[in-house]
Amino acid sequence: MDREIKLAPSILAADFMKLAEQIGQCERNGAKYLHYDVMDGLFVPSLSFGLPVLSSIRKGTKLFIDCHLMIEEPLRYIDEFTDAGADSITVHFEACHEHGCMEVLKKIKANGIGCGLSIKPATPLVHILPYFNIVDMILLMSVEPGFGGQKFISSTFDKLRQLEELRREGGFDFDIEVDGGITLDNVADVIDAGANVIVSGSSVFKGNIADNVTKFTEIFSQKTQQN
Ligand code: DX5
Ligand code: ZN
Repeated sequence: MDREIKLAPSILAADFMKLAEQIGQCERNGAKYLHYDVMDGLFVPSLSFGLPVLSSIRKGTKLFIDCHLMIEEPLRYIDEFTDAGADSITVHFEACHEHGCMEVLKKIKANGIGCGLSIKPATPLVHILPYFNIVDMILLMSVEPGFGGQKFISSTFDKLRQLEELRREGGFDFDIEVDGGITLDNVADVIDAGANVIVSGSSVFKGNIADNVTKFTEIFSQKTQQN
């Protein structure tokens, strides 16, 4: 793996009464990204948080803020999330209807931030091939989007391997992110299958955050040295 392996703690699992402290613990112990899950109650059944919370977090951290928009027609909100401080915005292939994904991705790029495209577990890779040239990151969901704390869907391993092969064969240059059900027990296999941006909610924020982040980053160092 020649790409840097990065931990992206998902604050969906944080204690919001202690958010600043918990983000600081992630930052001090080696996390590189902060994964910010936005849910609209339409694309996914649940609601999470939106623009004002992002603006506040932006003022308190230097971490790269990786916004995962689980919202319908994300084009409507690209400027707002950019202005609120997102360093990258990832949208869902399945959520772009009236405006195709290409228009949305170009809009994100034109704003000067990273652009990502995500697919749900049941969506085949073939649908997103046309976007490999433009994206900075592909996010494979390894659970149904909408809730933290679910079990990793094991067919994601094959999908990760296929995506990595397509990237290599086509000479594309995007990161591969994986999100949902990642634990200290399965993260090494997820990296071996091709992912280098690792989202984790429950396995970072439940228990001792500093220890959890340190354990993840130790595994990343071992994996980096192996290759
Ligand atoms: C699910 C979210 C995830 C979630 C991951 O829809 O996109 O980012 O927070 O949580 P865990 O790691 O607990 O599965
Ligand atoms: Zn997410």
